[in-house]
Amino acid sequence: MPHLFPLPLVERLRTARHLVVFSGAGMSAESGVPTFRDAQTGLWARYDPTELASPEAFRRHPKRVWDWYAWRRELVRRARPNPGHEAVARLERWVPQVTVVTQNVDGLHQQAGSRRVIELHGNLHRTVCAQCRRVVPPEAWGPPGPEGVPRCPACGGLLRPDVVWFGEGLPQDAWQAAVRAAQRADVMLVVGTSGLVQPAASLPVMAKEAGAYLVEVNPRPSALSPLMDHTLRGPAGQVLPALVQAVWGTDQGFSKYE
Ligand code: APR
Repeated sequence: MPHLFPLPLVERLRTARHLVVFSGAGMSAESGVPTFRDAQTGLWARYDPTELASPEAFRRHPKRVWDWYAWRRELVRRARPNPGHEAVARLERWVPQVTVVTQNVDGLHQQAGSRRVIELHGNLHRTVCAQCRRVVPPEAWGPPGPEGVPRCPACGGLLRPDVVWFGEGLPQDAWQAAVRAAQRADVMLVVGTSGLVQPAASLPVMAKEAGAYLVEVNPRPSALSPLMDHTLRGPAGQVLPALVQAVWGTDQGFSKYE
């Protein structure tokens, strides 16, 4: 996709000292991970995700919620980082400080090689006890209780995915780190997010107020589009590699921060 990138954008990126990539489900769409608001497929088609991703849903139907996340874990396990994730990881070669702040729970940024990733909404691959909150690796899961959900080997509580559900607060350390990064960024790439969910969607506002240059990468307009200094209307898996190529040249090019 021949993308003409305006000079101010190329210059901003080339001189960036702290670049923040703020990503949402659209970042992983080309990896085959359905975006959160895509129609649910298969046996989950009849459920609205907001009915499944909540403490209330887990209390009422623990096995349904557990099985839904098992299905999503399997989907993600088969997914690979796409060229968009890989381009984001390559940014670390040329920009002194790159921070990825993601709303995604699939771990694909880390798989692509990004070293500083702040997971605002947790990680699907991590399981915790709903009661004592300790992380329990699969090999330590206790046998399922009467609800059909594995139990915590330490306290007997129900296990659950270590993701933030609707109505739950964000992990404080992640949130504080994300706010600091947004306030220090001189450029923020806002990739693949509808900007509908708070408080995550307030990070681009904070970056803007602190003087950052904002760029959106999304095939469609989002709630954050009015904030942008520049919008790149295309899929992340095509736009991001083209942008990195346009700003820093080929991959074999000079990289100061290997
Ligand atoms: N490249 C870039 N953006 C894309 C692509 C793509 N290939 N495909 C879709 N998009 C965009 C859509 O246009 C949309 O704006 O990705 C966005 C996906 O929006 P949502 O599904 O709302 O995902 P997200 O913004 O991450 O949701 C935020 O809300 O649903 C909860 O906790 C969940 O982390 C999620 C949060």
